[in-house]
Amino acid sequence: MADLEAADFDLFFSRAIDLKKRRGQGISDRSLTGRTVGLIFEKASTRTRISFQAAAAQLGGTSLFISAADTQLARDEPIADTARVLERYLDALVLRTFSQQMQEEFARIASIPVINALTDMYHPCQVLSDLMTVIEYKGNCRSVKVAWVGDGNNMANSWINAAASLGFELVLACPEGYMPDKAVLDAALGRAAGRIRVVSDPAEAVAGADVVNTDVWASMGQEQEADKRRKVFAPYQVNRALMASARKGAIVMHCLPAHKGEEITEDVFESEQSVVWDQAENKLHMHKAILEILIGGNG
Ligand code: CP
Ligand code: NVA
Repeated sequence: MADLEAADFDLFFSRAIDLKKRRGQGISDRSLTGRTVGLIFEKASTRTRISFQAAAAQLGGTSLFISAADTQLARDEPIADTARVLERYLDALVLRTFSQQMQEEFARIASIPVINALTDMYHPCQVLSDLMTVIEYKGNCRSVKVAWVGDGNNMANSWINAAASLGFELVLACPEGYMPDKAVLDAALGRAAGRIRVVSDPAEAVAGADVVNTDVWASMGQEQEADKRRKVFAPYQVNRALMASARKGAIVMHCLPAHKGEEITEDVFESEQSVVWDQAENKLHMHKAILEILIGGNG
């Protein structure tokens, strides 16, 4: 995402919005006819996996889901060898891994597009579809203030990269020791200084925000830290009191799955400000746009 220019983002947004409209009108696009997409996941997934597979199917392509544990990767076959085999079978590879380096190695070696469906470091496809949701609700994703409340995790890092390219105001409130990745932040600040800030007070981040975003306190792979994190993050809950300082009509976002009663209260999650189901739906449309733009057959 850090490599995308603002115009690249617009291409994804406009095609995803168009594909959503077309699906609503019952128009069937077949731009992936004859294309095969492989998904290799090391971590659990409901939305990302199923929306990518549904996206491929609805565009006339085929998808293959492969649990990483069932591949020879789990028995130490090198990534470089796996990539050189899979490029002979597939038109694109969608990966969900712990390691960001693993994805970058796949991408460096494979001649086919490698799509990041989440690593410990980033979740770019999620942030692309979340920005589409912001556009739907706020008319644009450039002149808005976005608050991020909670862990400086993979989602936070991808929001930072998006803000650096698109120029919207992003204020992250994270506890000491749980800040976003320093290298990601420094690179983004170099591009968008002044528009991105990290603070420790959630109320400061949310003050006047158009979009209030949160995520789980313990991400996949951090389950053993969950008890400790519950204590550290308790002041970072998105609740009615915190939402009172947001701009009138602010939306609340969560990429899901949510732990209600922890990072977000049930009443805020279920409130009219919550757009979580639209976020989840837009993953389908954005994943279609991503597959079509990267490997679609209609030019
Ligand atoms: N938001 C998201 O990536 O959800 P899944 O883990 O269910 O794919
Ligand atoms: N930060 C969360 C996002 C889940 C979609 C995780 O990595 O588990």
